[in-house]
Amino acid sequence: MISRINKIVLSSLCIILVSAFTYSTKNDLRLNNNDDMLDHKVDSLLAIMTLEEKVGQMNLYNGFWEVTGPVPEEGDAKTKYEHLRKGWVGAMLSVRGVDNVRKVQQIAVEETRLGIPLIIGFDVIHGYKTLSPIPLAESASWDLEAIEKSARVAAVEASAAGINWTFAPMVDISRDPRWGRVMEGGGEDPYLGSKIAAARVKGFQGNDLSQPHTIAATAKHFAAYGFAEAGREYNTVDMSISKLYNTVLPPFKAAAEKDVKTFMNSFNDLNGEPVSGSKYLQRDILKGEWNFKGFVVSDWASINEIIYWGRAKDKREAAEIASTAGSDMDMEGHVYIRELVKLVEEGIVDESIINEAAGRILKVKFELGLFDNPYKYCNKDNEKKLIGQQSHHDAVLDMAKKSIVLLKNDNNLLPLKKEGQNIALIGPLANDKNSPLGSWRIASDDHTAVSILEGMKAYDGNEITYKKGVDLVIGNTAFIQEVKINTTDRAGMEDAVNAAEQADVVVMVLGEHGFQTGEGRSRTELDLPGLQQELLEAVYKVNKNIVLVLQNGRPLTIEWAAEHIPTILEGWQLGTQAGNAIAQVLYGDYNPSGKLPMTFPRNVGQIPIYYNYLNTGRASNREGNVFWSHYIDQKNSPLYPFGHGLSYTTFDYSDLSIESSGNTIKDDVNLSVTVSNIGNYDGKEVVQLYIRDLVGSLVRPVKELKGFELISLKKGETKRIDFKLTKAELGFYNNDGKFIIEPGDFEVFVGGSSDTKLKGRFTLN
Ligand code: NOJ
Repeated sequence: MISRINKIVLSSLCIILVSAFTYSTKNDLRLNNNDDMLDHKVDSLLAIMTLEEKVGQMNLYNGFWEVTGPVPEEGDAKTKYEHLRKGWVGAMLSVRGVDNVRKVQQIAVEETRLGIPLIIGFDVIHGYKTLSPIPLAESASWDLEAIEKSARVAAVEASAAGINWTFAPMVDISRDPRWGRVMEGGGEDPYLGSKIAAARVKGFQGNDLSQPHTIAATAKHFAAYGFAEAGREYNTVDMSISKLYNTVLPPFKAAAEKDVKTFMNSFNDLNGEPVSGSKYLQRDILKGEWNFKGFVVSDWASINEIIYWGRAKDKREAAEIASTAGSDMDMEGHVYIRELVKLVEEGIVDESIINEAAGRILKVKFELGLFDNPYKYCNKDNEKKLIGQQSHHDAVLDMAKKSIVLLKNDNNLLPLKKEGQNIALIGPLANDKNSPLGSWRIASDDHTAVSILEGMKAYDGNEITYKKGVDLVIGNTAFIQEVKINTTDRAGMEDAVNAAEQADVVVMVLGEHGFQTGEGRSRTELDLPGLQQELLEAVYKVNKNIVLVLQNGRPLTIEWAAEHIPTILEGWQLGTQAGNAIAQVLYGDYNPSGKLPMTFPRNVGQIPIYYNYLNTGRASNREGNVFWSHYIDQKNSPLYPFGHGLSYTTFDYSDLSIESSGNTIKDDVNLSVTVSNIGNYDGKEVVQLYIRDLVGSLVRPVKELKGFELISLKKGETKRIDFKLTKAELGFYNNDGKFIIEPGDFEVFVGGSSDTKLKGRFTLN
């Protein structure tokens, strides 16, 4: 039996190799992996596959059960292994570890008729085992090189564990912090989000996927998932075409331009159409306008959800809608494998759709080098040597420091003195080794973060008294269960207040638990959960010298703290090295340079709140009576704007100059500005450039980020920084999805935050 199968495998591979060789010789190709060559290989393989085998390529099964979603009734392991042996599985997710991966790969390669290897996917969201900060935190670094490197580290560890495909980066623009998944993305801005998307794709995929330690990336969730109404997870989305094109799509387009190999569609609908069944998004825009050559994977059973949305009456119709719309692979939905062969045989779905989808998937397998060596990612030595290596700890520590944002530092409480101080370290997250790991860290071990207490103890010149004060959560926490917040147990409060009373400085570590954010974690209140606000106010009564360190996965509404607490450091969930990163910033061994990638609201009622909102007919210039766009009980302005972040030093901006070669919409505009470090420390600054198109054929945003540069300036140093605005930055998409540039007046703003006041103007004819 085995030898018969082997013969078929060998003969089919021979066909591919011979034709590949002929082609390559004919065209004098150095490598066999240019697009035409790959298409040729794919076509040769498709030609010998049965319809069942082709549909099998479109089937993605979860390997470890109950990891990230409900298991459909057909999801038992026995059926899955039967399907695997028949060649009815194209990829698996959440199988990890060299032994496990080798086991399933061996079945695919050695026991199926054609021996086509599997793609092995996993949610490598912010590291595999050695965790970097959550993606939102990394985005606060605005440091594209560091972000790329962080994805690289994740790719090295994941690939050493047998994985060749990550379901990252999430590039959803998110402007509603009630939505728990804001922690996974690049924040609210399409320009910054696009740069980050490109950096992450490059980090995962490198320049050549066939190289070792690179993995295929996924731009997800396509599209508009971040705009779920009311910030409620999995909710409906309705938006204009211009908003879709100007705000939602840019990071996806940037990922596609970086040659991301796969897209994942999303759980939401868009304007009434469940996205997994959206031909408009998948065929017209992604595969049409953008000419995307990789494949689209559904989200977890999202094809089945077309039924629950009420758009399809049964699985058969859902499979028809999704495949026709361009969803190439069915993640753990069991719908394609059950329905598609019949649908083709009955002439309802055209076989060309199956050929196209299977072809796209096979092509990625070729690009990954899986046909050359299906066990390429199954090296035990690599697994042992590369995962958790010291250089990865160094890299995630570096990334963590770069992600920290100094929100406020009145009275220069920071940096802390290194000696002679009595410091009270207070709060439920101060000695937590689990929560800083954040959400989405399935492969890492619980309780492996360096806590802030541990980080601070590495400095031994001060006396540190640690008191938890109150618990944040009750009982154990896990990725798939909701956390229970302590709202009643105040037993440790008095003790903490007493310690604070004796201290020179109090460092309080408060925020959200790592599992209060991520998928399925929408909140309606964004304050400090549980008894933390009460603890903060109790401590404040006895000692006002408070440094508040926040640990959270989304913007929080901390209006009271912003008003009363002199120093606030945004410390997110920073991963494995969290405590060391925070301690080094607290003690001034690292001067913070992070800038917020999302606006912090004053209260939940302001949400959605973001800096690049559209102008209105009754904006603040109508202030004075009641009939303008405002609230009667709260300011319009945010608590902390997008792009905000302080340093221990001070930067001064001056001499903005603007020049356009011909002053027409065809010309570039060159700008430059002088930035000086006029404070007492060396430091880094993110110089940000915003524009406003004053009159347009559609209402335009009041400000839009169109350039930034992360610079280092020594104490007393000055630099001239140049920017160029090209057509790409000056135009916008209209409601037909067409990119246009219009003549007229533009304002320019340059500075260290989106609320910068340094301003200029130019006109294009
Ligand atoms: C559902 C999530 O929405 C998606 O982001 C993730 O990649 C899949 N589950 C697989 O775990």
